[in-house]
Amino acid sequence: MSYFSGLRVLVTGAGSGIGEKMALALAAQGAEIIVTARRKEAAAAVAKKIIEAGGSAHGMVLDVSKLGTIEGFRKRLHEKVGAIDILINNAGVVFGGEFEKVAIKDHLNTYQINILGVVAVTHAFMDDLISSRKGHLVNIASASAYVGLPFGSTYASSKWAVLGFSESLRLELRERGIGNVHVTTVCPSYISTGMFDGVKSPLLSPMLTPEKVVRAIIKGIRDKQALVQQPAMVKGIDFLKGSLPLPVWDEVAKIAGISTSMKHWRGKTD
Ligand SMILES: NC(=O)c1ccc[n+]([C@@H]2O[C@H](COP(=O)([O-])OP(=O)(O)OC[C@H]3O[C@@H](n4cnc5c(N)ncnc54)[C@H](OP(=O)(O)O)[C@@H]3O)[C@@H](O)[C@H]2O)c1
Repeated sequence: MSYFSGLRVLVTGAGSGIGEKMALALAAQGAEIIVTARRKEAAAAVAKKIIEAGGSAHGMVLDVSKLGTIEGFRKRLHEKVGAIDILINNAGVVFGGEFEKVAIKDHLNTYQINILGVVAVTHAFMDDLISSRKGHLVNIASASAYVGLPFGSTYASSKWAVLGFSESLRLELRERGIGNVHVTTVCPSYISTGMFDGVKSPLLSPMLTPEKVVRAIIKGIRDKQALVQQPAMVKGIDFLKGSLPLPVWDEVAKIAGISTSMKHWRGKTD
């Protein structure tokens, strides 16, 4: 029997990319998936794929930026299906470009979805996780949670916030003696889902495939890892940055192509 058999997993932003692939992979391992997306058709299409493959899924609309609707969503989910065991906060957006040329509504929306949505959805479902035998919170941050990212300042800073939120909550649960809930923060570099089309991957950090990242996340949940960092060089960033004088680190980040990676970002074009 798989670790995930019989567990109920809620995935946000599961209509495409990593979220969709996580939903399909966890369903194949026996989990019951609550596929959520901001568009009804997207949630329904992924739930249908899971059911057609012999798995168990429910497609539901959840726009994580509509903070006032999240409590109502939890109530509807409890009535329709029941409490969840695992929450995967995956929904995210990015608006790259020269800071003042990106519309302020896009910058603010980045925080609304990438961090305020994460906090609000986690708040709504924390009691579910605490009541579960195998409660698990998975927050998809980014390798940009460790660095300054020119042409992506609000994206990177939203992910710094996700990492800080996630780490703090993990330690708080430990302090409170809540040993049945684990927290995994996922920090991958660029992944070929389309979200970062146009970027130039930094040195030692080739574009990751969604499949590789999904495998690492699933292993991370099973092994109760606090951090999933991909590729391996992400593990060294914090140490290197903390050890070097800032002007030296700035040069290293430039030469390695981290600081210039977003210069030609275009994102999804479809
Ligand atoms: N791709 C990368 O290089 C990379 C690297 C590190 C971390 N990440 C993180 O990985 C996560 C998944 O990204 P991805 O690469 O799979 O890109 P993606 O395919 O664009 O997935 C993002 C998903 O979030 C959904 N979403 C956006 N706003 C939402 C909202 N208000 N409410 C609910 N869902 C919303 C999108 O739905 P729509 O289709 O409706 O827009 C989409 O399904 C994100 O948190 C991203 O920041 C990605």
